[in-house]
Amino acid sequence: MAGRYGPEICYNLPPKIMCGIVGYVGRAEAAPILLDGLRRLEYRGYDSAGVAIVNGKQIETRKCAGRIANLAKLMTEKPPSGQYGISHTRWATHGKVTDENAHPHFDQSGKIALVHNGVIENYAALREQLEREGGHQFTSDTDTEVLAHLIGSIYEQIDGADSKARLVNATRAALKQVIGTYGIALVHSDIKEFMIGARRGSPLVLGVGKDENFLASDVSAIVAHTRDAVYLNDFDIVAVSRDKFEISSVAGESGNYQISKVEFGAEDVSKGDFPHYMLKEIFEQPNSVRDAMRGRLNTEECTAKLGGLNMTAGELRDVSRVVLTGCGTALHAALVGEYLIEQLANIPVEVEYASEFRHRNTPMSGNTLVFAISQSGETADTLGALRESQRKGFRTLGICNNVASTIARESDGGVYMHAGPEIGVAATKSFTSQVTILALIGLLLGRMRHLSSSQGSRIIEALEALPEQIESVLKLSEQIRSIAKKYVEAEGMLFFGRQFNFPVALEGALKMKEITYLFAEGHPSAELKHGIIALVRPDLPSIFVAPDDAVFCKNRNNIEQVKARKGPIIVLTSGDGAKQLKGIANDIIEIPRAPEFATPVLTAIPLQLFAYHVAVELGCDVDKPRNLAKSVTVE
Ligand code: F6R
Repeated sequence: MAGRYGPEICYNLPPKIMCGIVGYVGRAEAAPILLDGLRRLEYRGYDSAGVAIVNGKQIETRKCAGRIANLAKLMTEKPPSGQYGISHTRWATHGKVTDENAHPHFDQSGKIALVHNGVIENYAALREQLEREGGHQFTSDTDTEVLAHLIGSIYEQIDGADSKARLVNATRAALKQVIGTYGIALVHSDIKEFMIGARRGSPLVLGVGKDENFLASDVSAIVAHTRDAVYLNDFDIVAVSRDKFEISSVAGESGNYQISKVEFGAEDVSKGDFPHYMLKEIFEQPNSVRDAMRGRLNTEECTAKLGGLNMTAGELRDVSRVVLTGCGTALHAALVGEYLIEQLANIPVEVEYASEFRHRNTPMSGNTLVFAISQSGETADTLGALRESQRKGFRTLGICNNVASTIARESDGGVYMHAGPEIGVAATKSFTSQVTILALIGLLLGRMRHLSSSQGSRIIEALEALPEQIESVLKLSEQIRSIAKKYVEAEGMLFFGRQFNFPVALEGALKMKEITYLFAEGHPSAELKHGIIALVRPDLPSIFVAPDDAVFCKNRNNIEQVKARKGPIIVLTSGDGAKQLKGIANDIIEIPRAPEFATPVLTAIPLQLFAYHVAVELGCDVDKPRNLAKSVTVE
């Protein structure tokens, strides 16, 4: 279906990939730059990796299945040389993980090397046509190879003295025939110091350096070299030389662009003294939560300032319903947001899995405000939900971390998290930033309705206290590590919470499953007696998120029910809770007391640490859990 965003994107072709791309043209040796860039993008996929570097008139290719460490080994054994080239790290959803399917792929002449992130939906028809009409032969099953052949075949057919312009025209003509999504980079062995990038639906950034230029799926791959970036738009084609670049569109118009300064530097994308990105990012939360609030609290009027929403006071006052949508951790933050906005602003809120929302006919009224929540800003399901909501005419705002990501750009306004790069595949600091921003939204909408200035002021005080309280929660890491050691033999874990902390139980269970591979489930505490209690046994720990709040006594009842059935109990509590649970819980983790609405920011962190320490004890690859990728750009 053609619409505002062109043909409907669907992703049901093998192999589906969401990957990382890095390209370089300059005076330095390309190999270390590309390899370092790939390492920084490894969170996007780690099934196979490859490089193509042009050396004189030869393309030197190294590619293999497995992690980037395998590629690095290959490149040490047989170092490729040259000052420009492209590279790729792949995440396969299905389709084999083989050396053959690793990128780069080549055209029929073997002179064009191409890397690709996305899916060419009509690849089978294009391949059949190339085989039938041109006798093309393919060496892989990938859609990417078809695109390389198509560009090569058009390049051979068109004239032009300027080979760079000819290659751009061939790329443009090929992309016009493509249905699907792509972020691509390509080089031609006969065209010196030159590469081409293009995007539609998959991110691509141009890094502008001094006598060198870069292409990357994400700026984190290139910030060590330049902080000047052009975030390409869908349908942009960029022709990149060492000392210049030119942007045009697939339609042939010259493109508008803006050079932006990247907010963070190389140190922000390194692990520093931490053994894992995940631990570093957990420990960054005092700052990331502070940054989510920075400049957004209006203490005079006891409200929040969120200019990026692009809405007038009148429009905000007219909002009669809010829909929060996202996936995974972002969905859990949305569930906290439901409690927050309903309590602070008294507006009905619904939380929808983005993947469900985009396909169902949710009845919505004229004054419904939709938020698409996404750390990466590239999640295909959340993007689909955003587009569907806009297609139906609803104002749709983004809560994103990645600046200039697709969701951030396509939404009608929004709030940036400013959390800095989150590289560990398991989301941590983005959760607490999302919850903080949802509290700001609740405060803003609430102050336009029934919330008094003194209530607003107390909310601001509680929010401002959070960074320091997080500091004291982080000091519990060692205690949590020793608890983790006790339960490392468990076959699974159950997580429980009520009200604001029910979504935190879901998030705690998600963290546990994704990085330890243990079976883990989160539930509202009260659901225990409706079935889950049948699972309780002496070797299955239950983790209760039970701060000293209005539902503490109810939680305590549920804790007693588990205790009566000899289930081991770990409790996360505050205030008087520890005293009351002594002798009942096996382990108690005490966090600072905070108003109910603010507790999820504090309770989520010990659960992140708990999952982290269990994973380390089990010897799991914390930052790159099996089968997962950071940015899920497929359905
Ligand atoms: C969990 C996790 C995923 C993401 C989900 C959405 O640790 O990382 O569940 O939260 O894929 O990602 P974003 O927020 O980038 O849309």
